[in-house]
Amino acid sequence: MKETSTRLRPRQDTSSPYLNTAAKAKGKLWFGSATDTTTAETSDVSYMTIFNNSNIFGQTTPANTMKWEFTEPTQNNFTLSAGNETIALAKASGKLVRCHNLVWSSELPSWVTGGNWTNATLLAAMENHITTLIQGYGSSCYSWDVVNEALNSDGSFTSNVFLTNIGEAYVPLAYKYATAAVTATGADIKLFYNDYSIEALSTKNTAAVNLVKTIKSYGANIDGVGFESHFSTSYYPTTTQQEQAMASVAAEGVNIHVTELDVACSSVPCSTADLATQATAYYDTISACMGTTACTGMTVWDFDDKYSWIQPSSNGGEGNPDLYYSNYTRHPAYTAVYEAIEGQSCSVC
Ligand code: G3I
Repeated sequence: MKETSTRLRPRQDTSSPYLNTAAKAKGKLWFGSATDTTTAETSDVSYMTIFNNSNIFGQTTPANTMKWEFTEPTQNNFTLSAGNETIALAKASGKLVRCHNLVWSSELPSWVTGGNWTNATLLAAMENHITTLIQGYGSSCYSWDVVNEALNSDGSFTSNVFLTNIGEAYVPLAYKYATAAVTATGADIKLFYNDYSIEALSTKNTAAVNLVKTIKSYGANIDGVGFESHFSTSYYPTTTQQEQAMASVAAEGVNIHVTELDVACSSVPCSTADLATQATAYYDTISACMGTTACTGMTVWDFDDKYSWIQPSSNGGEGNPDLYYSNYTRHPAYTAVYEAIEGQSCSVC
């Protein structure tokens, strides 16, 4: 009986090899994982045992708690408490925090999306939001994703309330406000632009590079670009393609973070072939970052399939994109990530 109950207990795998320890030993700032304190994760002991292991994860990103709907649900009524929960968790296990995000089309409260704005009033509201969050969270944020996902694949700007009322200048102006807010804190908080489908050379990658140039032309600061890296077993760029995309951004004198890496299997449970392809996609992405001096940190968009934003029911059957299965054991991709960090060939790809 005793033996049976022991076997049924979830076995959260926190054994070596250790991804964050290895990444830091190779000169990177972290290997990290996003987390979401708005879900059941934080009361899940097995999940938290892995999350809190700073040998595995040395950084976190709040998947939701710093978004506008959480932090300014009604105008000028700021609620930073949910974000502070994420920061407290991070600090308890020695993690840096990539704060995410200040200006995005999604997760906006109705007072923003439905407001009767002029250029001047929305700029003022945007500046107030940016300034209050940067100053409120202060040096607890290693970096901020100031503007998130502003570009379409053809290089045009994503339609949203900011574009409609302010025009394309909302992006560089957001960085201008963020730069001033960071200066006022006296802390060294890095400012990033974050987007997907920029991980290979493409029209959108070029548009992101141009955005960096535009932001700088406004006298604003930008320290880096986040490559989200949401891939699947049917699409992921090779190491060489990702290195080229990173090089085009790094040529502007800014850094790169891999910010939201995950690789969805085409169906669940992942087939043996899909697990090898998934491992290859993780391996290729981490190898590109390891091979690029300007790529300073690597983050997965949560680490356990149970809590992934990609669930088969809402993603056409795709799923299980993370480094850990729902039972807290590891996908082969975990080994692939370690081998990529170490510069070893992939034994599981
Ligand atoms: O907290 C509520 C819960 O109370 C409710 O019962 C449940 C029912 O729908 O919803 C829960 O909130 C959801 C939240 O995730 C927490 O799970 C929201 O509806 C849902 O919209 C939200 O989705 C998040 C999404 O961004 C939109 O903000 C995902 O968790 C989050 O992983 C995802 O993250 C984005 C990055 O910010 C930007 N890049 C893409 C990435 C993936 O889409």
